Amino acid sequence: MVDFKKMISNILAQEIGVIGEEEIYNIIEIPKHTEMGDFAFPCFKLSRLLRKSPNMIAEELKEKIKCNELFEAVSAVSGYLNFTINKQFYAKTVINEVLEKKELFGATDIGKGRTVIIEYSSVNIARAFHMGHIRSTMIGNSLYKIYKFLNYNVIGINHLGDYGTQFGKLITAYKLWGNKKDIEERGVDELLRLYVKYHDEAEKNPLLDDEARSWFTKLENGNEEAYEIWKWFREISLIEFERVYRLLGVSFDSYAGESFYSDKMPAVLKELREKNILTKSDGAEIVDLSEYGMPPAIVTKRDGSTLYVTRDIAAAKYRKDTYSFYKNIYVVGSPQKLHFQQLFKILEIMGYDWANDLVHVDFGTVSLEEGSLSTRKGRVVFLEDVLLKAIEMAKNIIEEKNPTLENKELVAKQVGVGAVVFQELFNNRIKDYTFSWSKSLAFDGETGPYVQYAHARCCSIIEKAGDIDIYDVDYSLLTDSSSMEIIKKLYQFADIVIDAHDKYEPSLITRYVTQLAHCFNKFYHDNPILTNDLSLTKARLALVYAVKYTLKNGLNLIGIEAPERM
Ligand code: ARG
Repeated sequence: MVDFKKMISNILAQEIGVIGEEEIYNIIEIPKHTEMGDFAFPCFKLSRLLRKSPNMIAEELKEKIKCNELFEAVSAVSGYLNFTINKQFYAKTVINEVLEKKELFGATDIGKGRTVIIEYSSVNIARAFHMGHIRSTMIGNSLYKIYKFLNYNVIGINHLGDYGTQFGKLITAYKLWGNKKDIEERGVDELLRLYVKYHDEAEKNPLLDDEARSWFTKLENGNEEAYEIWKWFREISLIEFERVYRLLGVSFDSYAGESFYSDKMPAVLKELREKNILTKSDGAEIVDLSEYGMPPAIVTKRDGSTLYVTRDIAAAKYRKDTYSFYKNIYVVGSPQKLHFQQLFKILEIMGYDWANDLVHVDFGTVSLEEGSLSTRKGRVVFLEDVLLKAIEMAKNIIEEKNPTLENKELVAKQVGVGAVVFQELFNNRIKDYTFSWSKSLAFDGETGPYVQYAHARCCSIIEKAGDIDIYDVDYSLLTDSSSMEIIKKLYQFADIVIDAHDKYEPSLITRYVTQLAHCFNKFYHDNPILTNDLSLTKARLALVYAVKYTLKNGLNLIGIEAPERM
């Protein structure tokens, strides 16, 4: 895309001389009030260098530049030089770019040649895939798409919680109270029942914990029976998780979870010991982090078994060796902030300078509206149940609004799931939020269906236009204020994507598509698109195409489908 700021800094650099183009580029601002123009160059710095008042400099520059045909107006106001881009040029530049790039509009290749790891979802085997997991799953999925869009080589990893003492407990419970048939029939529900029962019983009978520990030790030592049961639980769980991932449209390049590192632990321990990083404490081995204001990290327990953080040390090293990452990003909730601070510090102490390339992308909690869903187990809300209910509700709405729609089932899925995901990604990730059914599925306001509907509306206009082409568009017909509002929004898209990438913040894109849909609906409300005037129709149709592509690209980056009809 033509970078207007660059264009202006280039022109200014020729006139100014004393400071370079790049510096000028960085000084140029976008005025808060549009009447001040599209871009503004503050002359205060120059004033010091040239020993002239900012006003005078702005006035002089204005006289030199004002005749440039790229600008509709150049004005000098209180030390600023304001530029208003010629609207027709603006419209033509932006719309041509969108129509040419289509599904790649907004993409750049800043990631070329760089590998980034995004670790997300990382659910725990044999446990519920609950509503809270939507956060890591969808924030990570969106970051995955954003990084891909920017041409990074991206590796998505689901760091499954498939190892640890809890599996000793689960195997104990299974041996005591479980049977094959129930697990085959009821899957994770049955594993959960066993796990809950274990905890109830262990309160009365502390000997159970010894039994559990010994099963986990067997598992760590490669005992066949322990391994077979564990493997089976893992498979059963994954089948159910896959169902949820399919609903969400999420996938991974690797499921290397905690167990994947079990055979890599001895080498890690050896290295830690050789580097003199471990201290004995009560039979356990710890890394003392008091110097850095952190509690110690326990690396092995008294019985020699490893812990969560030990496996994370191994995982980080493995990822560096295997992928030679530029960044390794962990999308994990805020409660694990300390864990990651400790992990990153330990790797730094081990002497790895790439510890600086590890990023913890944290987020707040999601809760559900009071009484909005009865739970299967009375404890947690399964994400799958939330999604299925949303799909059901979307189906009812479609049945009511558009009963003759083709592919109703598919569209209901796209709208229902999209509604939940949209709300998930609407606020800054660090904010806690309460999921609301009524808000998420409304067709107006800041919702997924609202944005999807704007996209479908674009598609339907295009379909109605039939074979009217959009060649030879007269861009002077798009210089009215509501068209220009859309065009300026479109122009921002690439910057928004970069900003979302810099801040690991998908919500910037969610908000952007909402605003774009809003501008478009306003335009659509005031302006007929298919008119009797062919030139006008073509121009407006070109705008509709551009909005359609951009909405679709934006929705895609946050992991939401864009149905063509709904
Ligand atoms: N399975 C963990 C949990 O549910 C999250 C894993 C986070 N990733 C990591 N590399 N530690 O809490």
